[in-house]
Amino acid sequence: MLTLLLTVIIAVSTCLCEDVQPVLGSSFTFSQNCENDEEGKLLRSEPHGEVEVAVHQRGVWTPARGYRGQILQSSSIFFRRIFYNDSGVYVLRCGIQTMRIQVKVLIPFNVTVKEGENASLPCFTPLKAANKCVCARWEINKQVVFEWNSCTDKGNGTADGRLSVSPGRLLNGDIELRQVKKEDQGDYFCYKQNEDGEKEGDPSVVSLKVN
Ligand SMILES: *[C@@H]1O[C@H](CO)[C@@H](O)[C@H](O)[C@H]1NC(C)=O
Ligand SMILES: *[C@@H]1O[C@H](CO)[C@@H](O)[C@H](O)[C@H]1NC(C)=O
Ligand SMILES: *[C@@H]1O[C@H](CO)[C@@H](O)[C@H](O)[C@H]1NC(C)=O
Ligand SMILES: *[C@@H]1O[C@H](CO)[C@@H](O)[C@H](O)[C@H]1NC(C)=O
Repeated sequence: MLTLLLTVIIAVSTCLCEDVQPVLGSSFTFSQNCENDEEGKLLRSEPHGEVEVAVHQRGVWTPARGYRGQILQSSSIFFRRIFYNDSGVYVLRCGIQTMRIQVKVLIPFNVTVKEGENASLPCFTPLKAANKCVCARWEINKQVVFEWNSCTDKGNGTADGRLSVSPGRLLNGDIELRQVKKEDQGDYFCYKQNEDGEKEGDPSVVSLKVN
């Protein structure tokens, strides 16, 4: 019994698992990769078995039959465009190592503004915690651009101070970006943040376009 328990604990604790959240309609590069000299495979876990997605040899990923046109030959796993049906469980094999990657495709909320206007970026992530504090974190390109805690009422925006909590929308994490510039374009992720400053659960995403 004890041996069985130990085996289970070891199996669980050595699970190499990661979540990735690409955005529908965008391109996406997996941060996970094999070493240059390793033979590798990316497979998709389906009810009837594993389906080959791409193969890694001599430092290059080559798409499998069903993924030509969507995955480009490249040194990392690069999807040219993400479809909704790309959600699922993938298995990455590099040499003798195996990693499970859970892919959850996020559907963006589109916001389009003209240059110089203000943009409201709504957060659809459920943020309320039991202690009634709301902590939100906004990121673009994996960079934190805004953090906000409703209990301390402390925000931390970009250096130029153009980002703030949306006036009158205090408790749901919505933010406002003033005098939008062309270079502000991109996908903004709203995460729930816990008291230790860690991200929790899945984010929501706003795709900002500037005309
Ligand atoms: C997902 O949908 C796209 C577009 O409809 C299609 O081209 C592609 O083959 C599908 N992929 C899978 C894995 O079913
Ligand atoms: C958001 O923009 C993308 C890219 O322009 C488009 O494909 C998608 O249909 C838009 N989504 C909605 C809900 O309008
Ligand atoms: C943008 O927001 C600022 C500060 O809230 C406000 O003073 C300004 O009038 C707004 N600009 C536009 C174009 O709405
Ligand atoms: C936001 O917080 C980070 C780290 O906590 C700090 O380095 C940065 O200066 C802060 N930015 C602003 C605008 O206060």
